[in-house]
Amino acid sequence: MYYRRVGDVPPKRHTQHRHSSGALHAEEVMGEEGFSSDSSILYHLAIPSAIVDATPWTPGDLTTTTNQPLLPRHLDLHGLFPGQEWKAADPVTSRRLVLGNADVRISYVVAGETSPLYRNAVGDECVYVESGQGVVETVFGTLPVTGGDYVLLPRATTHRWLPRGDEPLRCYVIEANSHIAPPARYLSRYGQFLETAPYCERDIQGPDGPLVADELHADVEVFVKHRDSRGGVTGTRYVVPTHPFDVVGWDGCLYPYTFAVADFEPITGRVHQPPPVHQVFEGAGFVICNFVPRKVDYHPLSVPVPYYHSNVDSDEVMFYCGGDYEARKGSGIGQGSVSLHPGGHSHGPQPGAVERSLGAESFDELAVMVDTFRPLDLGEGGVASDDGRYAWTWAGRGPAQ
Ligand SMILES: [Fe+2]
Repeated sequence: MYYRRVGDVPPKRHTQHRHSSGALHAEEVMGEEGFSSDSSILYHLAIPSAIVDATPWTPGDLTTTTNQPLLPRHLDLHGLFPGQEWKAADPVTSRRLVLGNADVRISYVVAGETSPLYRNAVGDECVYVESGQGVVETVFGTLPVTGGDYVLLPRATTHRWLPRGDEPLRCYVIEANSHIAPPARYLSRYGQFLETAPYCERDIQGPDGPLVADELHADVEVFVKHRDSRGGVTGTRYVVPTHPFDVVGWDGCLYPYTFAVADFEPITGRVHQPPPVHQVFEGAGFVICNFVPRKVDYHPLSVPVPYYHSNVDSDEVMFYCGGDYEARKGSGIGQGSVSLHPGGHSHGPQPGAVERSLGAESFDELAVMVDTFRPLDLGEGGVASDDGRYAWTWAGRGPAQ
């Protein structure tokens, strides 16, 4: 991200910076890759290292099941939170794991409650807000969020989610074991977005001002998701003696931000454009793309829906979050569905979709896609939402009953 400066920051880094009371602020450098990548400097009113209690915390059911027999699958995520269940759910601890591997975990949550204070020390989080309203309060400041926003939360950013309004906040959560950033090919050698990129700095919304809690000196809980020694994910509940939201100012290139999918400018062509033109972010071992409403291919003999394709090196996870998805008509897929097309299985339009698409001028579809380079296992939410029928929709019949 580009350089940003918020609140009260001294003119020179690593020099004395005092509160009006005369007390020194606690300077914290938060940086990636061992002081060799992006960082920010935060000025705290209290010591950010202080803790008064620590106990184990289990961050949800993270068990996984191998996708065997190897099948394309349709997962109906809306069914995971039936009725009014969302009113007691929060956007962090109520997540249900849908798919995961050693690089990335994809969860879904429908929430109406404020989350506890939380940070993910395993990797960055990219939360796509399917619908609803809210704010995310962070040590860097507050981010308003609404349907269609990606919320990027750098690893170890202490924050909490506050859903607002009468509607639930629906979140599709992509948790990396690494950092998540715009693709390197969108950036100049010095980090500016290129003219050829589908979005740029003006589309990135960071915190505008610092956030300091009203009541600073009180014990508060902070839930930390972190790695265990076997490469798994576990958690710890800390109690800290001062509220983590005590930062009076910060500057740097590492901070949480939002990006509205409506600000993604689609790249189109005379014939079908491959998925990389739809890429929005990347992490280690996966990419994130989005398919947004757009004019479609304009060669006189173009075929607007995709050709059949075999992702020999990746599993493809599509989350259908708006409009009509032409290529999947007749498959049962709708708003809130996920399709998993695993590596080793060729996939493409359902029968009749190619013919129906001929002559189309535009597609009103919205989908977020995660392509992983290692196979994905099904989480408990993935198993619970599997419709069990999708694999047979191209043939029109499955195994004899
Ligand atoms: Fe595909």
